[in-house]
Amino acid sequence: MHLHNEFAPDSVEARDLRTLLHPSTNLKQHQEHGPVVHEQAKGVYLWDNQGKQYLEGMAGLWCTALGYGNEELAAVAEAQMRKMSYSQLFAGRTNEPSVALAERLIDMAPMDTGRVFFGLSGSDANDTQIKLLWYYNNAIGRPEKKKIISRKRGYHGITVASGSLTGIPTFHKEFDLPLPGVMHVTCPHFFSEGLPGESEAQFVDRLLAELEQLILQEGADTIAGFIAEPIQGAGGVLVPPQDYLPRVAQLLAQHDIVFIDDEVICGFGRTGQPFGAQTFGVKPTTMSLAKALSSAYLPISAVLLPEYMHDAFVDRSDELGNFGHGFTYSGHPVCAAVALRNLEIMEELDLFSHANRVGQVLQQRLRAFADHPLVGEVRGEGLIAAVELVRHKQPRTPFDLTDGVGAYCAAACQEAGVILRNLGDSVAFCPPLVISEEQIDELVSKFAVGLDATLAWAKTSRLI
Ligand SMILES: Cc1ncc(COP(=O)(O)O)c(C=O)c1O
Repeated sequence: MHLHNEFAPDSVEARDLRTLLHPSTNLKQHQEHGPVVHEQAKGVYLWDNQGKQYLEGMAGLWCTALGYGNEELAAVAEAQMRKMSYSQLFAGRTNEPSVALAERLIDMAPMDTGRVFFGLSGSDANDTQIKLLWYYNNAIGRPEKKKIISRKRGYHGITVASGSLTGIPTFHKEFDLPLPGVMHVTCPHFFSEGLPGESEAQFVDRLLAELEQLILQEGADTIAGFIAEPIQGAGGVLVPPQDYLPRVAQLLAQHDIVFIDDEVICGFGRTGQPFGAQTFGVKPTTMSLAKALSSAYLPISAVLLPEYMHDAFVDRSDELGNFGHGFTYSGHPVCAAVALRNLEIMEELDLFSHANRVGQVLQQRLRAFADHPLVGEVRGEGLIAAVELVRHKQPRTPFDLTDGVGAYCAAACQEAGVILRNLGDSVAFCPPLVISEEQIDELVSKFAVGLDATLAWAKTSRLI
């Protein structure tokens, strides 16, 4: 780490410190230490401006599924830019790349998909989900049915509406969120939320009872939707008990509540199946997709919805004269062409099967850390995982978050040459899906170096 007065005035670091407002950053620490400048990336590796190489263990922000520097995607983007750099979907215009991408998503998604709405980010997809449910319930004469149930430690974005769905306090405080009408129930992470003496089966019963009680108390006729990530990513890679989501889906169906499946992280092979819904055996009503949809080569998101919702929009938009929702860049032809080719390449590489196979290796290798003195839980599915660090294993005692143990570990891993991310005291893993078995060995060995450095530091700092 540097102190900011070490930077030459015309360096990228100094210019950054004079100009940027950084998203999701401790701004004071950033001013003190300055940025890490990433300069180049290829495959699963990334280099900073000092020439240091890192193995990308987080696929950027859970998104660079195909890895960096794919020449074919660059060529597709260039060709589409030359052919038609922009076109719109407003007022009945269309373009072939958007139609082809929608067809592919309708074929792939494990739900009764009728229609696809394109945006640019996971946040706008989830904003759109809320707006579409409100519009739908108004259109069919149920104006009271508007509330949304989300979960604590869920992450669904940061705009005013999607940020309200997010159930992590740091994204609410000082921003006057969440909005009224969004409620958060307990997240299905047995390790952190299970009560002393409670079995996992009893835990799931308790969460189902909590959800049902909330529905009955508010009245099902006031609740439009329930949103969930199959595995809660930014909340800590929280893997639910296997029967939790199917039981939730069943309860929602009984009360005519839409199950919004936020697949922004889990979608496209991350959990070892095409979609997280398949890993957990559920069929959602609607889906949000982003990130791996284009492997982050260009921004694009999609909301998938059933035909009966579209039918309601058709009639109401005719009465109103317009369906008043959409972005300038909804169906951007370059983003759509790149996303389409990205999905084709995934199929050509049989990438979801690969992710399933090497994902099992990653999960196995990480579970070997369960005996490490700092490790409380190792969890994950496919190529997404977390190792949670604790002060004592038995009885399980977490560190104080202010001890910064997770942050220390992520920094120590970075020093060792692997980019991982701490979510509190959980260290998250989410490498590009193209990672090889040898590269998983490298990732795990470098994590081991960071973890042992963290143990040594925790001992000398008398945290354990
Ligand atoms: C599950 C989930 N939903 C939505 C979002 C928001 O996506 P974006 O940052 O593209 O707005 C994220 C981002 O990490 C996410 O993980």
